[in-house]
Amino acid sequence: MPSRPRPGTSDEVRRAFIEFFAERGHVHQASSSLVPFNDPSVLLTTAGMQQMIPYMLGREVPPAIRMTSIQKCFRTGDIDEVGNPRNLTFFEMLGNFSIGDYFKESIIPWSWEFITERLQLPAERVYVTIHPTDDEARQLWLKIVPPEKITDLEDNWWGPPGAEGPCGPDSELYYDMGEELGCGSADCAPGCDCDRYLEFWNLVFMQFFQDRQGNRTPLPKTNIDTGSGLERVTAIMQGVTTVYETDLFRPIIDDVAAIAGTSFGRDEHTDYALRVVADHARGVTFLASDGVVPGNEGRGYVMRRIVRRAVRYGRTLGIERPFLESIVGKVISRMAAAYPELEAGRAGIIETITLEEARFAETLAAGTERLNEWIAQAKAAGRSAVDGRLLFQLHDTFGFPFELSEEMIAEAGLSADRPGFDAAMEEQRTRSRAGARFKSMAEVLASEGPGGAPESQFQWERPLTLPGEIVAIGVHEDTVGLRWDLDEIKQGQHGQILLHGVTPFYPEAGGQVGDRGVIRNEHGIFRVTDTRKLDGAHVVHIGHLESGTLSRTVNPQVIAEVDPVHRAPTARHHTITHVLHRTLKDVLGENTSQRGSLVAPHVARFDFNYPRPVSRQQLEEINARMNHHILADEPVTWSIMQIDDARKSGAMAIFGEKYGNEVRVVDIGGWSRELCGGTHVHRAGEVGPAFLLRESGLASGIRRVEVLAGEAAFTHAWNQQERLLSLARTVGAPVDQLEAKLTSLVEELDQAKRDAAKLEAQLAAGRAANLVDTAVKVGEVNVLAAKVEASSRDGLRDMADQLRAKLGTSVVALGASFDGQQAFVVGASRDAIERGINAGDILRQALAAAGGKGGGRPDFAQGGVKEADQLSVALAQVVPLVERAVGGA
Ligand code: SER
Repeated sequence: MPSRPRPGTSDEVRRAFIEFFAERGHVHQASSSLVPFNDPSVLLTTAGMQQMIPYMLGREVPPAIRMTSIQKCFRTGDIDEVGNPRNLTFFEMLGNFSIGDYFKESIIPWSWEFITERLQLPAERVYVTIHPTDDEARQLWLKIVPPEKITDLEDNWWGPPGAEGPCGPDSELYYDMGEELGCGSADCAPGCDCDRYLEFWNLVFMQFFQDRQGNRTPLPKTNIDTGSGLERVTAIMQGVTTVYETDLFRPIIDDVAAIAGTSFGRDEHTDYALRVVADHARGVTFLASDGVVPGNEGRGYVMRRIVRRAVRYGRTLGIERPFLESIVGKVISRMAAAYPELEAGRAGIIETITLEEARFAETLAAGTERLNEWIAQAKAAGRSAVDGRLLFQLHDTFGFPFELSEEMIAEAGLSADRPGFDAAMEEQRTRSRAGARFKSMAEVLASEGPGGAPESQFQWERPLTLPGEIVAIGVHEDTVGLRWDLDEIKQGQHGQILLHGVTPFYPEAGGQVGDRGVIRNEHGIFRVTDTRKLDGAHVVHIGHLESGTLSRTVNPQVIAEVDPVHRAPTARHHTITHVLHRTLKDVLGENTSQRGSLVAPHVARFDFNYPRPVSRQQLEEINARMNHHILADEPVTWSIMQIDDARKSGAMAIFGEKYGNEVRVVDIGGWSRELCGGTHVHRAGEVGPAFLLRESGLASGIRRVEVLAGEAAFTHAWNQQERLLSLARTVGAPVDQLEAKLTSLVEELDQAKRDAAKLEAQLAAGRAANLVDTAVKVGEVNVLAAKVEASSRDGLRDMADQLRAKLGTSVVALGASFDGQQAFVVGASRDAIERGINAGDILRQALAAAGGKGGGRPDFAQGGVKEADQLSVALAQVVPLVERAVGGA
């Protein structure tokens, strides 16, 4: 048979595989979703055979008895290892399947034919492994390869990804990637941990059914399931040593590198981060395309973890701005030919991912703020390191990785205390081990008798003050954390209280913050600072004991009292959120809907999808319409109904939220109807004035607005007026003439700046003339290195240019302090460059000696140091560096 061209690209490998098996009667099946449709026990699809399971078990009739597929797969086992050259989360599996049709006698010779004839791989580099008991496979292989090519491996057995399913012995194919990648050990062979032998195809001989207990019984018929990683085969075909260097990854890696201003192959630290971002960008793109939304459990958590891990590694590459939109866009464009659904879902995929990126950026920003405070405190106290315990707090509460803190602290010229961090981490481990000695809340509840304490109930219609009974108390102890096995909480102690059944306290949910207030009786007062639902069933009141003692055994009767000063404005902000949501749809279009919210006493924050900034005019209209609805004073009512009825009634549900069968629908005048569990006012008029505060972009296609209602709105309006009055006083004009006054002041200021710049240029020229005399000669090059006065980088650069022009063949290095910066520039004349001088190199080396950073071109480079005295150090390097450069020329 005339040989066809050897497949070289990943697209060609895909095609070759499908064609080869189509020629042998296989029907191509589309990849199934990454979210398994037929097996709830499996988180994500991890193998091509998953969609074939019902056919192999004889439970369903297959569309064909010979099938082939390219399956999207996602493996979560080693996410923290991804970054190493061999690990991947998302990959594509080439597979062929026989459902009770051919068995080993066909697939073994076919696989060899595909490898040696279709892929045209050199037979001498291909090796085979089999299960030691599988003599049938051994005999079949011996007809093709010599015995020394066959290795017995005990773990050549493939089992179901869920708890039960088809299984059987397998035979794996390995490719010798070259001796230089090997461990050198005498018994190095396929199956060795080193990088020499790459497993690239697994032929599974499905013979048994395995049940949940691990018992195996023969399947109705024998089946074949093979799986081959497209990425690995492509690496072999492209002669590269890792999958990351193939055409599936390189374009993506190069794009990430371009954004970071670096390149692949520069150093291992950079490469690791580039691999993480490339892998995770592919992973999140395919997860989002199959409908996975970031969340705190299951698949959503996998998604959240890898979006955040990608962002973190982006930061270690120096990428501070959102960047996933462009990388994910690249993945979509790169993969859309094979997966058209990516292009069709482009906008939604990008929205889902960039929204999570933005949320993580908020977390990082909050953490950064803390970190900066601690850096300032350490500096003020004359310490050279930031306490590791604090850094652990940052890690624990904000998910802020130590490495990130370390980098930011180093930038501020301090060091991060690693031993302190490690010690705090170890203490937490000890604490949780010790904590495990004490009963958990669930255990305390269980000991209350059958069923434990009833589920907590929050009821909207009840008054803010209710009698209650303490059933469990969690007391926070420094060394062990929260312990639930104590009967009482004493003055000064922090902890949590669980009441029997009904509570008037609203637990944080649906964006609305938890209630505050007190739980008290004549023996003690517990100040509640937050309320949360702990295990989906029990509401805990979090706070501290202000005075006395509260007990769950002696006098457990208490009064639970929600603070109305916290609740009422929160309810106003919740109702205005619904009014806003409906108004946004009315003004911006029905497609616009909620993507997240925060409802607090002082503000409502609302995120929604919209492709561009909302104009001032639209905002004005939204603001007017919201207030119009409030003034109409429509009734706010709520009712519990079946989810289907709620949907039929047109109630809006929130994207990505999960709802039970029974839902609560909040209705405002029949005009706004929304699924919601939060607290609201009873008539729209109670919201009081509403004020749309600001609009900004949060993520790709996601906008954010803030709204103030009631007291928060009129306090804001009053404060704005005060600010205007104070401004007017400062500039000496009445409020109604403020604009004209400020315009003329700005003009005057511009003129003054222009005059100052002119004067400075004159002065600089004069100073430059004096400086020229201080130049020294190195060979034929005039070298000038001096500290000068300048008020901006541009000024400094101008001065360097002038001096260079005056000095002819020259190198000019200048340092200046202004605006808290210590700037350093180096310029070289063209004929100095011809003599071997490079301003960029001189600047970098001089700054390296002085502890600064910078860069540039052969003729001009700029940078800076942190301290003024380091400028002198950098300047002192210049003459010797020029001597070396000229000498070496
Ligand atoms: N089920 C086997 C694997 O996942 C072959 O497809 O490796």
